[in-house]
Amino acid sequence: MVTEERIREILESIEDPFLHKTFKETEGIQEIKVKEEKEHVSVKLLIAKTNTAEQMELQQSIVNKIKGEGAATVGLRFDQLPEETLEKFQPAAEQEKEANLLGQTGTKFLTIASGKGGVGKSTVTVNLAIALARLGKKVGIIDADIYGFSVPDMMGVEKRPVVRGEKIIPVERFDVKLVSMGFFVEDNSPIIWRGPMLGKMLTSFFKEVEWGDLDYLLLDLPPGTGDVALDVHSMLPTSKEIIVTTPHPTAAFVAARAGQMAIQTEHEILGIIENMAYFESKETGNKEFVFGRGGGVKLAEQLKTGVLGHIPLQQPYEEEDVFAPSVYQEDHPTGLIYRNIAAKVIDSYED
Ligand SMILES: Nc1ncnc2c1ncn2[C@@H]1O[C@H](COP(=O)(O)OP(=O)(O)OP(=O)(O)O)[C@@H](O)[C@H]1O
Ligand SMILES: [Mg+2]
Repeated sequence: MVTEERIREILESIEDPFLHKTFKETEGIQEIKVKEEKEHVSVKLLIAKTNTAEQMELQQSIVNKIKGEGAATVGLRFDQLPEETLEKFQPAAEQEKEANLLGQTGTKFLTIASGKGGVGKSTVTVNLAIALARLGKKVGIIDADIYGFSVPDMMGVEKRPVVRGEKIIPVERFDVKLVSMGFFVEDNSPIIWRGPMLGKMLTSFFKEVEWGDLDYLLLDLPPGTGDVALDVHSMLPTSKEIIVTTPHPTAAFVAARAGQMAIQTEHEILGIIENMAYFESKETGNKEFVFGRGGGVKLAEQLKTGVLGHIPLQQPYEEEDVFAPSVYQEDHPTGLIYRNIAAKVIDSYED
């Protein structure tokens, strides 16, 4: 004889096809009725999305299972889960999607964006990554700027990644793992990319690279709001964004567009980094605002976020034995600013 308890037991172990959580977890079982004399079972289930192919499939499988318990006929109705439940489980579903991309969970994705080129996006990516690593985090960089990859040169990386089995082993320097389009291009020759190739390339950078356990994966995006930026936004639903701008008000204006896209695609903006903010004279300690002033703050207000740091115009110390032209040393004044920014980034995930 088929019983309500037995049916509940079966349903509770089945997963919602969209949330990948059991009906027990989503509390999606709304009603179970068993009419003993007719051996008829009727069930009402709440799922994340109704009227889909997934629903049809689920329906088939549930009906079969209940009939397997001895029911002669099964009536199955579906309705949508309440918004609160969806909101509760959706982030988990998104993280799972990202986890699949990388083959692991727990990695935080940070995209570094700018409105236009030449504002120091790659410099910021490299130094923020290294600062995070200096604070003990496991960090990787994807140099996704397929038009102007520059990260290997900036970090002084001369090695190329090796392939082990089916996987690419990223190059490691300053305790940061790196994969760059530059590794896969002969003689620095420019490449003509078409839309679909870009997406594939990015997917390979996630799936075919042996990243190991990572706390943070930073992505240096091409400037602007192009295809790649869009791809990244749809591939990495939980990634947070840092926007780099110069202090000039018009630069900030252009950067606002990049920020607007993050907002549209529901990506949190972690903050603004104002680069080339000022020049500080070694002799007098005077600050000169050579590229204007206030752009970072203005942009932050516009995008309802904060300024993570102001980075002055200055080169790293020259070192004879360590070649890495754009890496600021740990005790360099700019290195300390990056350390501060990295600490803020870590904090932002911990509250
Ligand atoms: N704070 C700074 N002080 C001095 N030079 C800097 C600073 N930030 C960046 N630069 C220099 O400015 C140039 C542009 O920086 P970078 O390549 O990081 O910018 P980008 O936004 O990534 O540019 P692109 O759009 O070409 O990718 C580089 O030569 C870099 O070394
Ligand atoms: Mg760059």
